[in-house]
Amino acid sequence: MSSPLIVLVGPMGVGKSTVGRLLAERLGAGYRDTDDDIVAAQGRTIAEIFVDEGEAAFRALEKEAVTRAVAEHDGVLALGGGAILDAGTRALLAGRRVVYLSMDVEEAVRRTGLNTARPLLAVNPRKQWRELMEARRHLYEEVATAVVPTDGRTPEEVTRAVLDAL
Ligand code: S3P
Repeated sequence: MSSPLIVLVGPMGVGKSTVGRLLAERLGAGYRDTDDDIVAAQGRTIAEIFVDEGEAAFRALEKEAVTRAVAEHDGVLALGGGAILDAGTRALLAGRRVVYLSMDVEEAVRRTGLNTARPLLAVNPRKQWRELMEARRHLYEEVATAVVPTDGRTPEEVTRAVLDAL
């Protein structure tokens, strides 16, 4: 059984996919993203899954996707921003190299405030971001072996900081 080299966690819009791809390139490894796995398996967008079946059903699909990816993938793995809400998923990350890409609320609003393709932000943004961060920050910190702040940094700079933190 293989194990991911690095698992990236952090809020939506923090740059997990962009940084994850850059990291994979630098490390000569593959890149995988559990959101992409879910979309490919379901033949629907994440927004459609949320609308059709609700968040709980999406979380169940996400847990399966993370379980499979952690067992199969030996490169860089990015998890959806809410994957760490599930205690079983958090337990799967124990003993692995997990990097939390963090950003503050204002940076989050700037980066994603207008992105209605992300269902959790469709009706909001600053208040929902604040609540989301308050509810999740400690969970990201719980699973992380390193925290890399992304505020004001380019994806290249974040990638370098992740490599330095390993
Ligand atoms: C979510 C984050 C999204 C996606 C879904 C729910 C969340 O992933 O899984 O929209 O709960 O934070 P990204 O972090 O890749 O955008």
